[in-house]
Amino acid sequence: MIDFKNVSVAYEKKGNDALKNVNIHIDKGEFVFVVGQSGAGKSTFIKLLTKEIDPTKGTVSVDGEDLKKIKHRKVPMYRRKIGCIFQDFRLLPDRNVYENVAFAQRIIEAPKKDIKKKVPKMLALVGLAGYYKKNPGDISGGEQQRVAIARALINRPEILLADEPTGNLDDKNAWEIMELLEDINKRGTTVIVVTHNMNFVNTMKKRIIQLQRGIVIKDQKMNDGDVLEIKEEKEEKKEEETKADESSVDIIQL
Ligand SMILES: Nc1ncnc2c1ncn2[C@@H]1O[C@H](COP(=O)(O)OP(=O)(O)OP(=O)(O)O)[C@@H](O)[C@H]1O
Ligand SMILES: [Mg+2]
Repeated sequence: MIDFKNVSVAYEKKGNDALKNVNIHIDKGEFVFVVGQSGAGKSTFIKLLTKEIDPTKGTVSVDGEDLKKIKHRKVPMYRRKIGCIFQDFRLLPDRNVYENVAFAQRIIEAPKKDIKKKVPKMLALVGLAGYYKKNPGDISGGEQQRVAIARALINRPEILLADEPTGNLDDKNAWEIMELLEDINKRGTTVIVVTHNMNFVNTMKKRIIQLQRGIVIKDQKMNDGDVLEIKEEKEEKKEEETKADESSVDIIQL
């Protein structure tokens, strides 16, 4: 359903490409983790799917439709296929939980009757039945992310994109959100999750797509016994420096 063919993205004419010749196929119903160091191109990958950006080279297609060819006025229609959640939840602070979820339905001009039926269903699905009247500022981060998930799912998208959805949450809430995403995937939605958290990747045994400086360096299903470790470049450098220091100590001692 999702196809990347020789996709490159250059934000600037000079400088490095954010994605380089990426070829990926994701089937309907898959659960995929996208991993890699900061700046590797993970959010760029997500932004291609939401059509916030178009590739500089190559094609991105969803259900056989080349996203670059979608006319401006048809983009909102395409976006109905997709639900998005982010690290910072992005809820409307001055509206209550019910209105935040209903908002996604109002945008597509769903009948009031449908909204009234669907919002409570979605809130129950994410474990927030009875939270209608609360404001985003008065609930926990984990609960805010659940509201965001309810909002992302209410228009029944085929694909749920999550860019670091647990980045602002403590371990317990992060796991609960990840389990919820797994549950949503089991109900049939294709789920793509960008994460830095190797605990999820190494425990949940899903397909991983690893980017490094814009290149796909790994695309595999994690199996029992597989362990993935990704160090940020800063950490790598520090380790190299320590090693260099240690070896210079050796030389001095010699
Ligand atoms: N709007 C932009 N203009 C110019 N360069 C950009 C823009 N957005 C991203 N980049 C660059 O493209 C590269 C990939 O960025 P991207 O945001 O996709 O990385 P990421 O893997 O999501 O990183 P992080 O883990 O820090 O969120 C980086 O080098 C970044 O600096
Ligand atoms: Mg990012």
